[in-house]
Amino acid sequence: MKENKKFPQGFFWGGATAANQCEGAWNVDGKGVSISDVMTSGTHKDPRRITPVIDEDKYYYPSHEAIDFYHHYKEDIALCAEMGFNIFRMSINWTRIFPNGDESQPNEKGLEFYDRVFAELKKYNIEPLVTIYHNENPFALTGKCNGWASRECIDYYLNFCEVLFKRYKDVVKYWIPFNEINCLTTKLGNWNHAGILNEGTEFFTAQVDDPNTRFLSLHHQFVASAKAVMLGKSINPEFQFGTMICHITVYPLTCNPDDVILTQQEDLMRNCFSGDVQVKGIYPYYIKRYFEKNDIHFEITDEDLSIIKQGTVDFYSFSYYMSNCISSDASSAKVSGNVMGGAKNPYLKATEWDWQIDPKGLRYTLNHVYDRYGVPIMVTENGLGARDTFEDGKIHDDYRIQYIKEHIIQMKEAINDGVDLIGYTPWASIDLVSVSTGEMEKRYGFIYVDKDNQGNGTLKRYKKDSFYWYKKCIESNGEDL
Ligand code: BG6
Repeated sequence: MKENKKFPQGFFWGGATAANQCEGAWNVDGKGVSISDVMTSGTHKDPRRITPVIDEDKYYYPSHEAIDFYHHYKEDIALCAEMGFNIFRMSINWTRIFPNGDESQPNEKGLEFYDRVFAELKKYNIEPLVTIYHNENPFALTGKCNGWASRECIDYYLNFCEVLFKRYKDVVKYWIPFNEINCLTTKLGNWNHAGILNEGTEFFTAQVDDPNTRFLSLHHQFVASAKAVMLGKSINPEFQFGTMICHITVYPLTCNPDDVILTQQEDLMRNCFSGDVQVKGIYPYYIKRYFEKNDIHFEITDEDLSIIKQGTVDFYSFSYYMSNCISSDASSAKVSGNVMGGAKNPYLKATEWDWQIDPKGLRYTLNHVYDRYGVPIMVTENGLGARDTFEDGKIHDDYRIQYIKEHIIQMKEAINDGVDLIGYTPWASIDLVSVSTGEMEKRYGFIYVDKDNQGNGTLKRYKKDSFYWYKKCIESNGEDL
């Protein structure tokens, strides 16, 4: 067999963003309040708060201005084009289109903003990859029906989808119905992923949880996702839909069979369950026992199951930042993660935010998911959150270059293994607000934005060393690393 296959021609190279983390303009042109707009800033040690009443005198809310992509999109897209992007991942902020989520008519001004963004992308032949839901649930739906805990949300979401699909049927082909849908298998998913606010919740990291409501909400999203796929294809059969899984790859800490079994169970629940529903169109066999064990009981109708079966996605996408170990020994050293932590792997280094860096784990993961699903794959998030500093007016982010480079090398290995990998959109195209901590100074971008954790700064954009490096990488289709 011929070794050293290259990245295929037409491979998607780009970057990822999310509306709530970059747009700002939180109350401009008719936009409503989203669940992200009521989250204060925090740090790794000091968790973000969820404040049902916005109090700007007392708290700083990073999404309100973010990096003001709303007014800088032309400049930002031009910079992405300069790097050679042929794809740009973004989300559409639901509350720009339906401020409270339940209106019958969309907000034209919100749609016009995305018309302009798509026109700008087209100017540079950049394909948009649109996440329909990325932590942007209308806050009003929390008050009205506790977010996705209610079945009503499915219809509100589909109204939103219908407007998008009809308006953008000729400009957007690739859609992701829900970002990291599997986060609802953990309690940190309650707020960002479903707008559920259980009484007593104050801090993002200490949400009051009711697993039954949480899994019911996830079920509603599965049905909504499948209906969106069917609706979308009826409007434009060329549309391609993808799942988006927060893949926190797990290894047993030791070869103790207890660790191995625990790891398998953890992998099934955190990583595989949502993909199995969205890609295979089934509720997998192992969920029955998990639901019984955790006292989770809600009705899944035959109609729901039939919808889930029909509305499967076309491609698999996932975020990959780290791997974790699983141990049956409760006293083992721990590390954190986007939403799910684990035991410390003695062979890996971790970032300042305690996320373990594991490029080879990406190859392992790509093989793991391709073996399971056999559909085309995109890595729709991957990147290094780090503090960047100026030196002689420049940002020498060799650590970021190193991180991305090592992951690209492993993607190439996976392509050689036979995996059908079609795209890579690292997080993030440009510095933006961190979800877990609300910080600006946990930076991921190839483009630096002058703004600090307290909201001070000129918002001026600067090209980091990684900008030039990624440009070279894209120009050579992943050969010149
Ligand atoms: C993913 C999210 O979980 O991780 C992004 O989809 C997020 O929205 C990214 O920004 C990085 O996490 P954080 O907390 O460092 O911003």
